[in-house]
Amino acid sequence: MREELVKRIYIFSPSLRIWHWINAVCIVILFLTGLYIGNPFFIGSQGLEATYAYAHRLTMDFIRFIHFSAGYVLMVMLLFRLFLLFFNKGDRLIIPRVWKGDFWKGVGEMVLHYLFIKPWHRTYIRNPLARLAYFLLYLALIFMVITGFAMYGLSDPAGFWAKLFGWIVPMLGGEFLVHAWHHWFAWIIIFFVIIHVYLVIRYDVIEKEGEVSSMFSGMKTFKETPVDVEDVA
Ligand code: HEM
Ligand code: HEM
Repeated sequence: MREELVKRIYIFSPSLRIWHWINAVCIVILFLTGLYIGNPFFIGSQGLEATYAYAHRLTMDFIRFIHFSAGYVLMVMLLFRLFLLFFNKGDRLIIPRVWKGDFWKGVGEMVLHYLFIKPWHRTYIRNPLARLAYFLLYLALIFMVITGFAMYGLSDPAGFWAKLFGWIVPMLGGEFLVHAWHHWFAWIIIFFVIIHVYLVIRYDVIEKEGEVSSMFSGMKTFKETPVDVEDVA
């Protein structure tokens, strides 16, 4: 057996880890119920007869209720995530340091590495490509909250949500296009999720830095000092 010296670095606060998993569950629920709202294919083109649908709890009313409830949780958790930025340094790794000279070089390096073109890359607490991807995901989630609550507000044009986010409806070109953008972004987010899970598992297997377990324990292990260690130290 070969022994290696490893350095354990504490990165993610318990709040961030709890946030991550609640957020992941919400997104899966929102995606499935959202697809159903857009096209209720689970019950066939005709749907269940109303009485049976009610008995099966498969009414559009119920699915929309789940979607909106998960939407509220997602929004509150995003505000909570914003609040976390002020405390633990490791919870600020989503800020892409685009002003740093080697940031874009690092992004290119990681893309080539993931495409199996470059066998080696520098050791990071969080690599620049991941930082950029997470930052864009946060923007996409904010967009979903704004468009989601704008649509939610349409049934009560003088209500709170219409006043807060109603401006996005004319801005995007009307109700139909708000639905369409909300729908397209749902697919972009799920595309992120699939690649994210693949890359996290790939990182875990290849780099052996305890990537998957880091979102449970908060720690990663390194064989050499990561180049961005000052972002958590
Ligand atoms: C709907 C599903 C998911 C979403 C939306 C999601 C989203 C995210 C986001 C936004 C971050 C960055 C956290 C931050 O620092 O602010 C992150 C990190 C992370 N996620 Fe997920 N995640 C999902 C599922 C998963 C799953 C299933 C796993 C485990 C297999 C996982 C493992 C991780 C790990 C290990 C990190 C830290 C990686 C790093 O430092 O670059 N995630 N995830
Ligand atoms: C990651 C987050 C989300 C995903 C993946 C998602 C997904 C979807 C999808 C696919 C649709 C169907 C669009 C169509 O084809 O017409 C939809 C509709 C909708 N979503 Fe979301 N959504 C998310 C967040 C939210 C949030 C935060 C809210 C806020 C309450 C929300 C409220 C709505 C509303 C009001 C509709 C239209 C319902 C209707 O026409 O009956 N969504 N969502």
